[in-house]
Amino acid sequence: MIKIQQIRAANKEDLAAVNRLLPQLSADARPMRPADYRSLIRSKSNFFFAARDGGKIVGMATLVLMQTPTGWRGWIEDVVVDGEYRGRGIGWRLSKTLIAAAKKRKAMNVKLTSRPARRAANRLYRKLGFKRKITNVYKFNIRY
Ligand SMILES: CC(C)(COP(=O)(O)OP(=O)(O)OC[C@H]1O[C@@H](n2cnc3c(N)ncnc32)[C@H](O)[C@@H]1OP(=O)(O)O)[C@@H](O)C(=O)NCCC(=O)NCCS
Repeated sequence: MIKIQQIRAANKEDLAAVNRLLPQLSADARPMRPADYRSLIRSKSNFFFAARDGGKIVGMATLVLMQTPTGWRGWIEDVVVDGEYRGRGIGWRLSKTLIAAAKKRKAMNVKLTSRPARRAANRLYRKLGFKRKITNVYKFNIRY
């Protein structure tokens, strides 16, 4: 049975699984170093959730909560399910869990971006109730 849970403690096996998932998210993703993984998990504003099959992490998603002068907002990043486990509702459950975590902490909304080419992801988010917001997304590259 697949379980969704927040990861609160770092271990090598989980980090190795996360690093196996990263290339499935982006060809450019670099493997996480142990110190970065620890800080991701420990940060008070990050909520790192994983889907486990037995002990093994087979999917992950991160919610970031931020406070601005206009309120608390959630941001979802790096949702990915291992290729062998797709189409079983894991992406849905991970996303629902993140939304619930944001609601629990009184966030006004949750935002994310997804390139149109990510067809499965865009279908998933729309089915979950995300509405496309017409805005310009800007990116200032600091690291290449
Ligand atoms: C996008 C991604 C995370 C989806 O994960 P997944 O586990 O395969 O998705 P699910 O099985 O939960 O959803 C599959 C389908 O069932 C639907 N679904 C699942 N559970 C559901 C439920 N309880 N109620 C209604 N619909 C449901 C989904 O919306 C989707 O619909 P579709 O058949 O029209 O595509 C996965 O394809 C992936 O990792 N892609 C590569 C990385 C990526 O693009 N990440 C997104 C970055 S923005």
